[in-house]
Amino acid sequence: MATEGARSEDWAGYLERFHQQRAGITETVLSRCVDRHGLDPYQWAVQPAGRAGPVLDLACGSGPLWPHLTARPYLGIDRSASELSLAAARGARPLVGADATALPVADSTVTVVVCAMALMIMKPLAPILTEIARVLRSGGRLVALVPANRPLGAPGALVAAGLVAATGPLRYPNDAALADPTEAFGRAGLRIIADDTHRFGYRLTGTARADALLDSLYLPGLPRRRVQAARAWLRALATVGATAPVPLRRLVVTPGHQPA
Ligand SMILES: C[S@@+](CC[C@H](N)C(=O)[O-])C[C@H]1O[C@@H](n2cnc3c(N)ncnc32)[C@H](O)[C@@H]1O
Repeated sequence: MATEGARSEDWAGYLERFHQQRAGITETVLSRCVDRHGLDPYQWAVQPAGRAGPVLDLACGSGPLWPHLTARPYLGIDRSASELSLAAARGARPLVGADATALPVADSTVTVVVCAMALMIMKPLAPILTEIARVLRSGGRLVALVPANRPLGAPGALVAAGLVAATGPLRYPNDAALADPTEAFGRAGLRIIADDTHRFGYRLTGTARADALLDSLYLPGLPRRRVQAARAWLRALATVGATAPVPLRRLVVTPGHQPA
């Protein structure tokens, strides 16, 4: 779920191949993460989404949010046909293959846009935020889940440091905009009403789990030897059943302007 400097030759092409070859990998990892109360990231993500009104699951991927949203009108949108076929197989519907820069959704018709693990990678961000603002009803909200750097916790910091030593700093294309998101959201007519971080843990109970974590990372252009070093590190941690920290950030945004 991270990039090595986001300096891919062709980010859109990289993403397309990644999700064709590894459809469902984000859900595979995140659905096995829990916080100290047993809450998983998707449960945390939907908490501010309310219970009623049409919901747009933007960049829905394999549809991990769908089971939490079945009681209300739902629309899942993603650019990846491979991801959408997994979402369809679990019963999520309706689903539409589309790009976030041109949502096939009428103006002011959506109560909540949920967007898990995608706002940091979708380019170009400005027209995507404008599209989100366009489809949201007045008083509606965007709830976005994105990766964070902390909190890591003490043992978690060691696990993360070993990984970053192998992969380099984990970065995403929209890091700069999301570092101080008021401006980017404000330009789209959106106002931030909550911005929280929370730590989840992913238990490395064996090689398969270690490999899945590595496979879930966006690492365009990372040399093979560094991928192998990261794999070796995670597999070594798995022999002792270590827990990898997965800090996440949840942004809640609504149409309107930030008070001066
Ligand atoms: C890390 S996955 C997250 C999937 C799912 N929300 C989850 O949490 O498991 C990112 C998703 O964003 C989708 N995506 C990336 N850029 C997109 C764009 N411009 N428009 C629509 N979907 C996009 C990818 O196809 C992929 O399914």
